[in-house]
Amino acid sequence: MDRIRIVGGNELHGVIPISGAKNAALPLMIASLLTDDTLTLENVPHLADVEQLIRILGNHGADISVNGRRERQGESYARTVHFTSRNIVSTTAPYELVSKMRASFWVIGPLLAREGKARVSLPGGCAIGTRPVDLFIEGLAALGANIEIDGGYVNATAPAGGLIGARYVFPKVSVGATHVLMMAATLANGTTVLGNAAREPEVVDLAKCLNAMGAKISGQGTSTVTIEGVRSLSGARHHVLPDRIETGTYAMAVAMAGGDVILEDTEASLLDTALEAIRRAGAEISETNSGIRIVRNGAGIKPVDIVTDPFPGFPTDLQAQFMGLMTRSSGVSHITETIFENRFMHVQELARLGAKISLSGQTAKVEGVSRLKGAPVMATDLRASVSLVIAGLAAEGETMVSRVYHLDRGFERLEEKLTRCGAHVERVSD
Ligand code: EPZ
Repeated sequence: MDRIRIVGGNELHGVIPISGAKNAALPLMIASLLTDDTLTLENVPHLADVEQLIRILGNHGADISVNGRRERQGESYARTVHFTSRNIVSTTAPYELVSKMRASFWVIGPLLAREGKARVSLPGGCAIGTRPVDLFIEGLAALGANIEIDGGYVNATAPAGGLIGARYVFPKVSVGATHVLMMAATLANGTTVLGNAAREPEVVDLAKCLNAMGAKISGQGTSTVTIEGVRSLSGARHHVLPDRIETGTYAMAVAMAGGDVILEDTEASLLDTALEAIRRAGAEISETNSGIRIVRNGAGIKPVDIVTDPFPGFPTDLQAQFMGLMTRSSGVSHITETIFENRFMHVQELARLGAKISLSGQTAKVEGVSRLKGAPVMATDLRASVSLVIAGLAAEGETMVSRVYHLDRGFERLEEKLTRCGAHVERVSD
């Protein structure tokens, strides 16, 4: 099994290209099941989660081809992928496939809308909390679906004439349930109004793509999204938006290691709250024509408190990385997680590097230390694993991160992007 070896102490200088967003690419790929025409997605990141979803969509009958790689410095870094689901050959998403990735549960929306039925295994995914699916079930039922849970599967059936537009207010903000209800409602009879909808940029990106396919969605990016049902959707061509979590992760890596780096092909407006926290921690951040420049030269890292929240708040997907940065701050910071109940598994691994962190309920108290020391550590989930890489960049000596398959789910060519900027990071295959 691969491991990542980091020798800390080097500053980062150079340019890091930011990939297309994993969490936008996944729902966009799933949206291709809504039409018998071809959906072409540009800027699709090459990640284990994307490959897994390709297998899942293939199981439903999607024909998928990859081409049009963009080249930079002799290497491809973004892909154009064509998805054509002429016929849906199976409305079942089996346990063996869905258990590997929670987002694959989301196929329930398009399958139900297009075929009138879906049988989808209850999901798996990162072990960051219980992550129930009650909101999906309640929301789809509001559109008229009959839903039963049996033997670990959700069996959903639409009324004879198809799903029916309705008003549904989410009792809690959910990115995935917003994606699914938005997709399902595109082909419903009548108008659907979703209240307390997620406002994440990935929701906006999905709505933009669905509208290009002929859907009638408005209000995306606000908490009220309105979807007027249409009879059918067509193909389209869509460019996946930049990955704001990857952007924030590398910004925090530079803030940690010091240096001067341009994050290319990304947009500051996707992560204002996180960038503000990094600024307060002592880094200089400015916008360039094609992205963001981040500099930390000499100044120490200041302690900053954060609380995770749905967009536009501080993203839960950057919480672990920010904690990594705070381990070297000059004081005490508090990090509060409000989205997932078990997203502190990185704490004990960061402690192995010498971090001083104590937990009280949903808040971590981080007492900055002047020195971290490399050690063997274990990745526990996708974002937790990259927080160990960030800490390793500033630790003395060697940090060896095992279980890097977690990293490969969501970070495209991480070791290469960091090495190009002068870091000592390599993949070791046993
Ligand atoms: C998406 O997950 C992201 N995944 C997650 O990123 C991200 O952490 C999360 O949104 C929050 O921003 C993808 O986009 C593929 P939610 P999702 O439904 O949609 C509760 C990563 O590292 N909830 O917004 O699954 C849930 O338990 C991943 O890339 C219910 O209670 O998250 C959580 O507490 C990890 N019932 C909260 O809502 C439901 O039916 C928010 O979850 C659904 C969710």
